[in-house]
Amino acid sequence: FILTVVLLLQLPPSHCRYPLGMEDGRIKNDDITASSQWYETTGPQYARLNREEGDGAWCPAGQLQPSDVQYLQLDLRQLIFLTVVATQGRYAHNSGNEFARKYRLEYSRDGHHWISWRNRFGSEILMANINTYESVVRDLHPPIITRFLRLIPVTDAIHTVCMRVELFGCAWQDGLTAYNSPEGQTMMAPGYPITPLNDSMYDGALERRKLSGGLGQLTDGVIGQDEFVQRRQDRLWPGYDYVGWRNDSLGPGYVEMEFQFDRQRNFTSMKVHSNNMFSRGVKIFASVSCVFKLHLISEWEAEPVEFHTVLDDRNPSARYVTVPLKHRLATALCCRFYFADTWMMFSEISFQSGMKLEQLASPSHWPPVLTPPSYELNSKVPQTTQKTGKSHTSILIGCLVTIILLLVVIIFLILWCQYVCKVLEKAPRRILEEEVTVRLSSSSDTIILQTPPVPPRVSLDPPYERIFLLDPQYQDPAALRNKLPELSQSAEASACSGGYAEPDVTLCTPHQCFQSSVPHYAETDIISLQGVTGSNMYAVPALTVDSLTRKDISVAEFPRERLLFREKLGEGQFGEVHLCEAEGLAEFLGEGAPLPEQDGRPVLVAVKQLRADATSNARNDFLKEIKIMSRLNNPNIIQLLCVCVSSDPLCMVTEYMENGDLNMFLSQREIESTLTHANNIPSVSIADMLHMSVQISSGMKYLASLNFVHRDLATRNCLLDRHLTIKISDFGMSRNLYSSDYYRIQGRAVLPIRWMAWESILLGKFTTASDVWAFGVTLWEIFTLCKEQPYSLLSDEQVIENTGEFFRNQGRQIFLSAPPLCPSSLFELMMRCWSRDIADRPTFHRLNKESNIMDR
Ligand code: ADE
Repeated sequence: FILTVVLLLQLPPSHCRYPLGMEDGRIKNDDITASSQWYETTGPQYARLNREEGDGAWCPAGQLQPSDVQYLQLDLRQLIFLTVVATQGRYAHNSGNEFARKYRLEYSRDGHHWISWRNRFGSEILMANINTYESVVRDLHPPIITRFLRLIPVTDAIHTVCMRVELFGCAWQDGLTAYNSPEGQTMMAPGYPITPLNDSMYDGALERRKLSGGLGQLTDGVIGQDEFVQRRQDRLWPGYDYVGWRNDSLGPGYVEMEFQFDRQRNFTSMKVHSNNMFSRGVKIFASVSCVFKLHLISEWEAEPVEFHTVLDDRNPSARYVTVPLKHRLATALCCRFYFADTWMMFSEISFQSGMKLEQLASPSHWPPVLTPPSYELNSKVPQTTQKTGKSHTSILIGCLVTIILLLVVIIFLILWCQYVCKVLEKAPRRILEEEVTVRLSSSSDTIILQTPPVPPRVSLDPPYERIFLLDPQYQDPAALRNKLPELSQSAEASACSGGYAEPDVTLCTPHQCFQSSVPHYAETDIISLQGVTGSNMYAVPALTVDSLTRKDISVAEFPRERLLFREKLGEGQFGEVHLCEAEGLAEFLGEGAPLPEQDGRPVLVAVKQLRADATSNARNDFLKEIKIMSRLNNPNIIQLLCVCVSSDPLCMVTEYMENGDLNMFLSQREIESTLTHANNIPSVSIADMLHMSVQISSGMKYLASLNFVHRDLATRNCLLDRHLTIKISDFGMSRNLYSSDYYRIQGRAVLPIRWMAWESILLGKFTTASDVWAFGVTLWEIFTLCKEQPYSLLSDEQVIENTGEFFRNQGRQIFLSAPPLCPSSLFELMMRCWSRDIADRPTFHRLNKESNIMDR
């Protein structure tokens, strides 16, 4: 529990550009010092942006000469990811006349060793003010991870300078203070530009080809692109964002990196953003082995944590690889990343960890400078560090006692619910929603402890934000709040208004509202069928399953010796999919069989086969899956042709889709243009993409009409045949290939969280309405040509946190932003799919209708 609280306290702000407290006083006078001051009344404590105390600014003593080094120094009391600096001159109610035209920055993480900041092109100088009153805001590219900062005014002639400042950023949650590694190398391949893969902004030492004691490119918050050798628009060189190593140059077949932290932490995971352009010999690492040190001076512990990745030579996208660190306590880690190919290239490494409570309460960490300003307002009298530490320790203890009490209440409620919910299973949804509110509000209370203040209203464009900005049109929380009604309303609204309520039998689903013949089902009656090869198979109402067990639903048994293996198409937890030639299948199935024209060629089929060692549960599920599949007959749903179940291994035979899955298909294409035509580059047009959307909505409309819930709709589960017709499938075979799309809960499900509606993640509630949400994400994938994973800049944990924001609906949820290629009417449709209230989400019937209209 304590660890959870600590982890929640640590949750990162929604984006990293919060004022750090010069203007509002959270940075204390004692923490603002200077090399000199002209008068008492122009001391460093007056260097606060937009404030007019004293004589209105900090001014160093005397006139500044070009060779002078005068500085204003700030102690931020904890490590900060600093992204923006704003400066002003001395206005002093219009009597001031002094400002700094330029300045430079020095920073120090330990207060002893100072480093000069340089931008990505090597320049130290930041242009500043041209008058006394306007604040000039400068983004720091790269950002700085530091506790101490010096602002050093720079002048070309003799001038009097005065400054007021504000800093923007967020707490450096990783706590990483240095990484040590072999120097990055240069890639030279015939026909490609020379690609230096060094750590060009590393701020530590480089000696004998080893980097030590600093941070750099791997912690600048910028992830590298898939295609790293292309020329860039920002004048930086190809490969800039990556640090890369060549296998044969390092000898042992691995890259060893040491990571040092500010204090002892309990590590949950490490995320490594890695390139996978296998066509150029680059792959993610094959495995990693990490050892841990409790204290910086102690020995490495003997027992390593090891992790093997699933290698992928079908999808060249750069991706985050998450390495579980099994809650090991450490102040330093040493990891060996083993090569899977000639090159290994990383662009970011981040760590997820918790801290001990006493560390959180220690004066150096507490109070965090990012607490809302209201905590510190009007505290003009400077407090000593010790006093601050004590008072905040008691606040922390107070908070914890409250949280513990809350938790006891919640545990009681949960136990009570376990009993009562059985009774409520058939009760109207509203009661269940109220129960949910209780459960979730407890977590929101905890998170609020570190909710940062509203970000500055300045137009800034950092590409390095650790968490990206919302699309501008969704940044106004008030606008969002207007869009999303309260939950209590939704339960009622969803009852019959064309939404997807899962009510008791007196209420109606949209399906019932439109077609009264199909029996209605309550959510609690839905049976989810686990695809045995790893997936959640379609979930169907219990009623449907009952009818499925009837003997009359049958599919023909094909002689397995007539299936000739050609190649493996995929694999999952309990089975594999093979491409096979099916001898005589056309004759076997007879007239009207759903087979493509043969033109004398052998019939190719996809054969899904249960592993010999599968559990009996998996076996039962496989048989159920066959029964369900045999009921499906739609041009946009994969077709079951026959089975081999009279002996082991159990097989189901489906049509073979020559063009693979939609994710792979789109990610290998560019948007159609004269350039793609002239150079024969595989391309798709907007019309193609709209037509794909129509087909998927049509297949889903069919599934919804049968009350089938898919639970894993995504481009990876849409297959294309030789005519580019899309058919929805879910064989769970994508789970190895697309493992980074799934979030693994230890010992439990593997969940496609980036596609899941908030209620599926938070409540485990899967309905047609949650399929609609996933459909919205699938549309987004299509219109980004699958070049990016949804919420690619958010870690899995942040995606889950964002889900909480969708539930809380206070305007802090992050939406996927409009893909540049996407028509605005289609993006509006996507946004409706991500409505908080299921009643506000369109039905597949409507989605199909609207996408059809756009397709015309
Ligand atoms: N992978 C899984 N199922 C497939 C199918 N039916 N066709 C092609 N590739 C597949």
